Amino acid sequence: MLEDIFQSPTSVSLFGVFVALLLLHLLYSSFSSQKRPEPLGPRPLPVFGNLFQVDLKRLDQSLFNLSKTYGPVFQVYFGPKKVVVLAGYRTVKEALLNQAEEFGNREITPLFYDFNQGHGIVFSNGDSWKEMRRFALTTLRDFGMGKKMSEEIIIEECGYLIKEMEQYGGEAFNNTQAINYAASNVISALMFKKRFEYKDPVFQTMVEKDNETIRLTGSVSIMIYNLCPWLGPFLKNWRDMMKNIEANKAHLRKLISDLKETLDPEICRCFVDAFLIQKKHLKDFDEKSSHYHDENLLYSVMNLFAAGTDTTATTLKWGLLYMAKFPHIQDRVQEELSRVVGSRQIQTEDRKNLPYTDAVIHETQRFANIGPLAIPHKTTRNVTFQGYFIKKDTTVFPLLTSVLYDENEWESPHSFNPSHFLDDEGKFIRRDAFMPFSAGRRACLGESLAKMELFLFFTSLLQRFHFTPPPGVPEDELDLKPVVGMTLAPKPQQLCAVRRR
Ligand code: HEM
Ligand SMILES: *[C@@H]1O[C@H](CO)[C@@H](O)[C@H](O)[C@H]1NC(C)=O
Ligand SMILES: *[C@@H]1O[C@H](CO)[C@@H](O)[C@H](O)[C@H]1NC(C)=O
Ligand SMILES: *[C@@H]1O[C@H](CO)[C@@H](O)[C@H](O)[C@H]1NC(C)=O
Ligand SMILES: *[C@@H]1O[C@H](CO)[C@@H](O)[C@H](O)[C@H]1NC(C)=O
Repeated sequence: MLEDIFQSPTSVSLFGVFVALLLLHLLYSSFSSQKRPEPLGPRPLPVFGNLFQVDLKRLDQSLFNLSKTYGPVFQVYFGPKKVVVLAGYRTVKEALLNQAEEFGNREITPLFYDFNQGHGIVFSNGDSWKEMRRFALTTLRDFGMGKKMSEEIIIEECGYLIKEMEQYGGEAFNNTQAINYAASNVISALMFKKRFEYKDPVFQTMVEKDNETIRLTGSVSIMIYNLCPWLGPFLKNWRDMMKNIEANKAHLRKLISDLKETLDPEICRCFVDAFLIQKKHLKDFDEKSSHYHDENLLYSVMNLFAAGTDTTATTLKWGLLYMAKFPHIQDRVQEELSRVVGSRQIQTEDRKNLPYTDAVIHETQRFANIGPLAIPHKTTRNVTFQGYFIKKDTTVFPLLTSVLYDENEWESPHSFNPSHFLDDEGKFIRRDAFMPFSAGRRACLGESLAKMELFLFFTSLLQRFHFTPPPGVPEDELDLKPVVGMTLAPKPQQLCAVRRR
């Protein structure tokens, strides 16, 4: 075969051309490699980019699939917009923790700008963000984030949630709303020192609107809006969202102004008070004082509600659904709760004596993967990362799906398996790839509050109730496919909460 090629004159000259081209190519790439290459990725079409190569309805999954072809750092184009995706535990960790500064800005899409006008905590950058984040962290901590006061607030709210569920006397019901109200009340108590009755219509609409906003954020028409903001007024989802946000703002402004009127600088009742007192304390010449204005207060409060309600409620709903779906796991949790706590009030202190339950809660967060793309980041400067050049202000998705389902980190990533968090003796173990709160400079600032809520709500409910599918529905018919929005939520479905003896 080879001899044939060399014997034919035309083949020889073809071969010569081939070799020459190869040499040229090598020469050229050694020249151009002095400039570092950009990350690889699927070839984009003009205008549309890679929009036809990804499934926008399950974006995290399709990006996870692409990472298997293009490696842990790759780029995709959403229309003309380039996004660098980070995949797998090692890569996400290396970027968010080891190069925290470079990968630590927030991408503020047109929609996110509409939300907060660059103020607040979630969709802001620079000095204002830094001060608001620091203030929120210390204030929530002083109020006992991870300490007494939030514990008391949560335990009180558990009581109301239990009462609500008891009403159904073990009949099938839809737990979506009650759980959202409970999570929202915890934030409300911290922000305003005020809880709402679950039946309060004003409260109901507020929670409903937040929930809708989060769902719409992940919708395709909003992705289109982010690419062509001038289309906004023509898109129903966008118009609905702006209406929701205005209503929400008006409501929060009212609550804030009530607190302003009754403010006593000697007594700090809640987050809003702390902000107003801090503002009074800071002297005008202190450069920090310029950040303590009404817009930052309003939007920080709005952010803490939005970021703290739906996430926690959604995780808890997944937890109850998994318990109904996997009754043998629920039995083990309840066995442990009965043995260690009995029927007295559960406290955060008890966690260390409840390793199996703790493992189940962690596995719930891993498996439910409610924030699959975190919230988009942006590079703060030109970076070279794993040999690739990434320009300043490039949008970056830390793909949390690929961390929580990383095949190199988890023994059985695709099944619900509490042993991921247990050693051979049944003791609880931490796992580095457990990153549902993301990591680094932009990591969730409510992590310790969220963990306390999940623990207390989940255990208090399982202490009192056994969760089952509605009568006649076998466990394997419970649907674990998520509703996709900015978070992955369980489909609203009915469960029974049967009182345990
Ligand atoms: C199970 C519950 C929760 C989960 C899974 C969760 C997850 C996350 C994730 C993935 C991010 C994005 C991090 C990034 O961009 O890299 C985030 C940001 C944030 N979370 Fe949470 N979160 C939860 C509960 C809470 C609670 C209870 C609060 C507040 C009280 C909160 C406040 C925030 C804030 C303010 C940010 C933005 C931080 C920044 O941009 O600097 N979260 N959270
Ligand atoms: C990802 O890949 C798996 C396996 O090849 C496939 O079943 C799934 O549909 C893909 N998901 C998406 C959203 O592309
Ligand atoms: C919240 O959103 C889900 C869909 O994501 C929807 O089914 C549900 O009705 C909404 N409302 C409440 C109060 O949870
Ligand atoms: C960043 O990279 C771009 C493109 O290579 C270059 O034009 C720019 O000067 C660089 N900026 C800095 C601060 O190095
Ligand atoms: C559960 O309640 C939510 C919110 O009211 C509603 O959208 C959903 O259709 C209900 N689902 C079922 C199965 O009843």
